[in-house]
Amino acid sequence: MDHFLYRDGALFAEDVAISEIAATVGTPFYVYSTATLLRHFRAFDEALAGMDHLICYAMKANSNQAVLRTLAQAGAGMDVVSQGEYLRARAAGVPGDKIVFSGVGKTEEEIRVALSGGIRQFNVESEPEMEVLNAVALELGLVAPITVRINPDVDAKTHAKIATGKSENKFGIPIARAREVYAMAAAMPGLEVIGIDVHIGSQLVDLAPFEQAYQKLAELTETLRADGHKITRLDLGGGLGIPYETGNQAPPLPADYGAMVERTLGHLGCEIEIEPGRLIAGNAGLMVSKVIYVKSGEGRDFLILDGAMNDLVRPAMYDAHHDIVAVNEPEPGVEKHLYDIVGPVCESGDTFAKQRAMPPLVAGDLVAFRSAGAYGAVMASEYNSRPLIPEVLVHGDQFAVIRARPTFDEMINRDTIPEWL
Ligand code: LLP
Repeated sequence: MDHFLYRDGALFAEDVAISEIAATVGTPFYVYSTATLLRHFRAFDEALAGMDHLICYAMKANSNQAVLRTLAQAGAGMDVVSQGEYLRARAAGVPGDKIVFSGVGKTEEEIRVALSGGIRQFNVESEPEMEVLNAVALELGLVAPITVRINPDVDAKTHAKIATGKSENKFGIPIARAREVYAMAAAMPGLEVIGIDVHIGSQLVDLAPFEQAYQKLAELTETLRADGHKITRLDLGGGLGIPYETGNQAPPLPADYGAMVERTLGHLGCEIEIEPGRLIAGNAGLMVSKVIYVKSGEGRDFLILDGAMNDLVRPAMYDAHHDIVAVNEPEPGVEKHLYDIVGPVCESGDTFAKQRAMPPLVAGDLVAFRSAGAYGAVMASEYNSRPLIPEVLVHGDQFAVIRARPTFDEMINRDTIPEWL
């Protein structure tokens, strides 16, 4: 459920007309709804209410300072995967003891910055990383709280590029080697083992793979406890999917997910962490774009938009579906027309949708890509020298630009010309 609804024939974000934002900031742009962000966060928080828990928002999904501040004020922790994300979280006001650090390639510098700045835990992904972490901790005279990310060898049944829990993926430590690796960690004076971590993939639309992974986690918790380790915290990763396509695939509800977590892991008495990204931010954002031309091709019509693959790369990168709606509500019963919806970038991959049924549109009309709040703006680039598009946050009847569109000069002047030229 989101807060992007038609009112009197026009699409609104909460109490603000999308057309009003377009008139102020120009197109294309991203717009996020505060009420939707909070609604999704609270749905998860309530789903886990029966257990000691912390929701560490996977900020890779949308790391704008205003989005982070909104969630942090509601009580969220953060899951970070780089020094940049760590510093962004801190700048948004998230205390170090609510930040978990994930990722397979944390550098020594990243580890030093997070450990000295304050951190809830590192989710360690390999033995060499463990050695570096131990060395940095000893050098700083600190003890690093850790979980080890376990690769449970479970098929998440999602797009291959975002599945992470199979043994052939680069993530985590094979569950068969867990005891050995925990013994190694326990012998390192700079580390304190506190729990286990798992994340099997993203955009999962079924609870079964989660349940399989969490059952393995429950068994491993008992085994490691029997080996003498203090396992008090379980980080369950993120990955719960969202409905991208109206009328198709209803992913599990947070409440069902919460009940499953309680059923598989509740008896262990551990503190539960989860790292949802998409489920919190995905349906809380739109990308709004304008039709530049309607072009008649060979047997098909193209809607050429001013937004492109550099602004929203998911369709080109993962063949992802985004619902695209007209900002002016179509008259009831209007006959739909099939369009290929494309951007201006010079490659055929710059296609958002093929043969998509839309109300008849003309140049100048606005369209909105739904479910674009996660992995939209954060994955944008300036390919084709198209400046990054602005981000806007709506709160009731107010809206604010939370990242401005750079000017062409700002974009160009980021380059420097060596003196020999
Ligand atoms: N935790 C870890 C360790 C992760 O690697 C990820 C996502 C998450 C949590 C959050 O997953 P979520 O709840 O958002 O599914 N760019 C892709 C998605 C990549 C996900 C990477 N890791 C997309 O646009 O679909």
